[in-house]
Amino acid sequence: MSDFVTVAVVGGAGRVGVGMCLVLANAGHRVYGIDINESANEMLMRGEMPFAEEQGEEYLARALQRGTLTMTSDFSKVAESQVIIFVVGTPVDEQFNPDLQPLAQAVGSVNAYLKPGQLLLLRSTVSPGTTNRVRGLIEEQTGLRIGRDLFLAFASERVVQGQAIREIVNIPQLLGTFDDESYRRAEAFFQTFITARCFHLSPVEAEIGKLMTNMSRYVQFALANEYYLIADQYGANIHKILDACTHEYPRLHLPKPGPNVGGPCLSKDGYFLLERFPFLELISGAFKINESMPAYLVQKLEQWSHIRRVAILGMAFKADSDDVRNSLSFKLRKQLENATYEIVCVDPNVRGQQPIDALAGVDCVILMSPHRQFRRLESILAAINNDQAVLVDLWGFWDEMKYRAQNGVFTAQQARQALREAGPTEPAVMT
Ligand SMILES: NC(=O)c1ccc[n+]([C@@H]2O[C@H](COP(=O)([O-])OP(=O)(O)OC[C@H]3O[C@@H](n4cnc5c(N)ncnc54)[C@H](O)[C@@H]3O)[C@@H](O)[C@H]2O)c1
Repeated sequence: MSDFVTVAVVGGAGRVGVGMCLVLANAGHRVYGIDINESANEMLMRGEMPFAEEQGEEYLARALQRGTLTMTSDFSKVAESQVIIFVVGTPVDEQFNPDLQPLAQAVGSVNAYLKPGQLLLLRSTVSPGTTNRVRGLIEEQTGLRIGRDLFLAFASERVVQGQAIREIVNIPQLLGTFDDESYRRAEAFFQTFITARCFHLSPVEAEIGKLMTNMSRYVQFALANEYYLIADQYGANIHKILDACTHEYPRLHLPKPGPNVGGPCLSKDGYFLLERFPFLELISGAFKINESMPAYLVQKLEQWSHIRRVAILGMAFKADSDDVRNSLSFKLRKQLENATYEIVCVDPNVRGQQPIDALAGVDCVILMSPHRQFRRLESILAAINNDQAVLVDLWGFWDEMKYRAQNGVFTAQQARQALREAGPTEPAVMT
């Protein structure tokens, strides 16, 4: 394979697709981002990012200026490409089964234009065995054989959302292939734009490896949440405990507890991993814990009879993101609605949600996504402007109250007092 090739990224206008298109188009490859979402294609071709991505704007501007990126819904561009990357969504259905429909449809559209010598990379996160099913779809529909006419690797995307451009080039690739030639070609392609090494696995090993990576994080979050629930029952401060236990201690690594452990990947990937083993307890247990955190918060509010109007602070599924897919903020909203509270949804990152000013006069604020715009507790208190308001911060995000609050629950009045005692914040010293 020559250094620079033409690449078709199928699903190229999605969260993962855009990052991949931008990195490749800036690394010297000629990229067609093929997506059925015409409006996202048009937006990108106008130089506008459809969502927040670090360095996204500058990478997009450069790719358009150099003419190395074209977004299109025209699948015939596959015929001009040496490499075809699939990054379409892979959701679960209403019964939590892997839904192969979008991927099968994308493969069907691509099949019409395949020709011998092309390298196919499956980058969507999939349930174990899916690469084999994709191989079947390709071979049955085209008559071409993987490993002889076409080359296929499962090469999962492992970046953290929002920082894809930086991470794609640095993270090792797990390449799952049925044959050595497919591995050789996939590795040669990745080495044109990444600085990390590649590992050769079987497709099912690579599929499971990606899911295990994500579920390890998910289970860790659940463990932190379970510890929170236990500490809370004893009236013990979880942040004091964890900060003390982890300080200069080499064998305890835990994330902070938090009520918003969801998002487009983590929970869905667990259903993929458990597809054939529905009774394995650890991952199933993690679901129950993480998904029950919003209900626990609603239960906590019952001790204050004055709370009527509740603000959910942050609707995105994680800090500094604008992605609301599978965010537990919406689960919390539903549960608050069912408990007949009035609700205000505040998120300056998410279109259609309220700005921080909307906190004025609320009786309660629940911090769900600790965005950087919420960092200054003083500003949040000023926006609420109600001393009786109850604030709930399970993350320990507001340092001033981390150890003083009852496990993240405090009134605006207590917070003002704490800020007064702490005195004015020192201006940063420039050296
Ligand atoms: N979002 C993440 O941070 C992340 C990280 C790692 C892996 N993943 C995995 O990557 C995959 C994509 O995730 P995403 O978040 O980018 O999803 P997404 O929904 O943002 O993007 C998918 C894109 O595919 C397009 N699409 C759907 N069907 C198509 C078809 N038939 N032909 C062409 N385009 C089609 C959609 O229009 C959309 O733009 C999923 O498998 C996901 O699990 C996501």
